[in-house]
Amino acid sequence: MPTETSSAEQLPPRGAAVWAALDPLIGAGTPLRVLDVGGGSGMFAVPLARLGHDVTVVDPSADALATLARRADTAGVGERVRGVQGDGDLLHEVLSTLAPGGGYDLALCHSVLEVVDDPAVTLREIAGVLRSGGQVSVAAANRAGAVLSRALAGHPVEALALLEDRDPAAARTRPAARRRFAPDDLLALVEGAGLAPGSWRGLSVVADLLDAASGADQDAVRALELALTDTSPYREVATGVHVLATRP
Ligand SMILES: C[S@@+](CC[C@H](N)C(=O)[O-])C[C@H]1O[C@@H](n2cnc3c(N)ncnc32)[C@H](O)[C@@H]1O
Repeated sequence: MPTETSSAEQLPPRGAAVWAALDPLIGAGTPLRVLDVGGGSGMFAVPLARLGHDVTVVDPSADALATLARRADTAGVGERVRGVQGDGDLLHEVLSTLAPGGGYDLALCHSVLEVVDDPAVTLREIAGVLRSGGQVSVAAANRAGAVLSRALAGHPVEALALLEDRDPAAARTRPAARRRFAPDDLLALVEGAGLAPGSWRGLSVVADLLDAASGADQDAVRALELALTDTSPYREVATGVHVLATRP
């Protein structure tokens, strides 16, 4: 295994809590088979490959996969990153052409359940390709955080629509609204897929609310995020919700 650290300290504050949660798995010194569903252009896949893990990214976007391949090559880890064009709802088919096509140690499903056709199907498909004891890292938009950030940005009508789970952009010509999740609903979806969730954490309690020009010290923001991530009542209003779940 390369000696590169997996420390959350390298990363932007908003992602620090996810990396900190994954650290015991990805920093344990054992190369893992990782599946990154909707992994896009490799925000997670490339750093994971740099840590010595073997990463398969399934994503429908050819553009994202081309960027992924470029990034992986530039980072010198092209041989450990594989991009496969396909849909998270059809993983068993998408992966059937690969050998081996299942048995993953770790799956990532980050910022994807918001946009797939059916989050329950996607999570079931992921559960189906994990080995027994394998884990999935699920991160999704938190409805309470979305309400708060729209309100603070000066959009109370949209904030109320989000609170009531209505499409905040219904009257405008914009792409369909992304789904948002209350933490309990996300946990229920995870359990419904036959996975055992751990306790959930809030992602980006303050980082997304801070004005980028505020000049706040990024190390201090990161330290604050890590302290707030599993602390109530702060985690409840975070921008995102994250849970690690295990396939029994
Ligand atoms: C917001 S990006 C998240 C990228 C990455 N997971 C991250 O956290 O940086 C959403 C990604 O989901 C992908 N996506 C959209 N529909 C999908 C589907 N049905 N199955 C898998 N991925 C999908 C998009 O192409 C895009 O790369």
